[in-house]
Amino acid sequence: MNFPSVNPTKTKAWRKLQQHFSEMKDVHMMDLFKKDDARANRMKIEWNDFQVDFSKNRITDKSLSLLIELAEEVKLKDAIQLQFDGEKINKTEGRAVLHTALRDLDNLKPEVKETLQKMKLFSEKIISGNWRGYTGKAITDIVNIGIGGSDLGPKMVTEALSYYKNHLQVHYVSNVDGDHISETLKKLNRETTLFIVVSKSFTTQETLANAITIKEWFLEKGNPQDISKHFVGVSTNIEEATSFGISKENIFPIWDWVGGRFSLWSAVGLSICCSVGYQHFEELLQGANEMDHHFKEENFSDNIPVQLALISIWYANFFNAETEAVIPYTQYLEKFVPYLQQAIMESNGKGVDRNDDFVDYQTGTIVWGNVGTNAQHAFFQLLHQGTKLIPVDFIGFSESLHGNQKHHSLLMANFFAQSQALFQGTYKKEVADNFKSFKGNKPSNTILISKLTPKNLGSLIAIYEHKLFVQGVIWNLFSFDQWGVQLGKKLADKKLLS
Ligand code: F6P
Repeated sequence: MNFPSVNPTKTKAWRKLQQHFSEMKDVHMMDLFKKDDARANRMKIEWNDFQVDFSKNRITDKSLSLLIELAEEVKLKDAIQLQFDGEKINKTEGRAVLHTALRDLDNLKPEVKETLQKMKLFSEKIISGNWRGYTGKAITDIVNIGIGGSDLGPKMVTEALSYYKNHLQVHYVSNVDGDHISETLKKLNRETTLFIVVSKSFTTQETLANAITIKEWFLEKGNPQDISKHFVGVSTNIEEATSFGISKENIFPIWDWVGGRFSLWSAVGLSICCSVGYQHFEELLQGANEMDHHFKEENFSDNIPVQLALISIWYANFFNAETEAVIPYTQYLEKFVPYLQQAIMESNGKGVDRNDDFVDYQTGTIVWGNVGTNAQHAFFQLLHQGTKLIPVDFIGFSESLHGNQKHHSLLMANFFAQSQALFQGTYKKEVADNFKSFKGNKPSNTILISKLTPKNLGSLIAIYEHKLFVQGVIWNLFSFDQWGVQLGKKLADKKLLS
């Protein structure tokens, strides 16, 4: 079975969707709700601790069934199977795409199992204080040095799970801007800091420059033989990591079948492990693994990532929506959107299809957003009354972690009110002044999760990973390469030499 390669615009379903769009484009969701009492109940998926309500979209049952026809015509089922089977579906780099194998806890590859065990023992030593720095003191601070997928995923998860964190302070240095590193170093004591150099390739300019500067800073007081007490590495490139000075036993391997932007589940997540402990890290993997099963096994009509992806295609390719907003109603997920930006935009920001032809349809979602309620006081004006169609994902949690019910009620009242205001607007209501009117009919999905636990966070991240995979399959793209970042890197290198 070959990885499918179907031009979506040449399918029967696409033509039917175009026809259907002409019937749907002026329909107001308020009328859809009025005609159909059961809509809200039908257009939702309940799974584990998740309730995903997609009723507030400009869709009908017919829209959904045509979108599923599209998924079937582009052979989505085969594509999913091939990904999980470990076929080299990342053809332009000749690699398999198996981040799902990192969290397949009942069926781990031996090398993954061994690395998880190494992460467990290492993080336990650091947390307990048994790992000592060069003057015999316990570690108090951890600095993750990495960029892109070697930074955004672990940084986002560490912050998202800060409720579960221990005494260690975890810092992230990514930007080659020397001010970033100086600001971080000024908070640190060499004797009690552990540096994790995270680079899949171990050739990334920014990470190497930062790692070298930090090593020099360390050596101002420490001795070269102390490096092994303060520097560990995560990489596929053991040779480069050792020649940087990291001792072999301090290197945590990853593999070429783990894409950088999907690597937080691997040893790239070592800083997460140290911050919240191995048990919580394993729960994160467990949650993602359960979502993997759901994605692989559930019918498309009850499949959360598939439904979200199809609805997104509906807006991008038929309504010509250019962007999507993601608004988590929890401060813990403040870094979720920047993380998603790399995952989604580096994956599907492509204009050449799997037949190596330039495409003549829209691909790639521009994703943006910020946490609610802050976002309401920043850009929601444009969502409500602007001229652009911007579908929104609202993500909220039924229970707060600290149990402050008064605040949580305020937060959740806003969470529900915003999606209601977006779809209802002031439709068919008398409004004296146009500037006070809201057209409504603005689409959103509501993802309500019982509680922000490591497991639920794992499932949530996996939803978006699978969603972008589905969209890449439909758009006929190679979602797992990133050739688009090469030219700029080359030009920067040239400028350095000249
Ligand atoms: O610039 C793009 C990229 O290759 C990302 O895909 C990756 O996450 C990042 O750079 C960092 O790469 P590495 O982990 O090899 O340092």
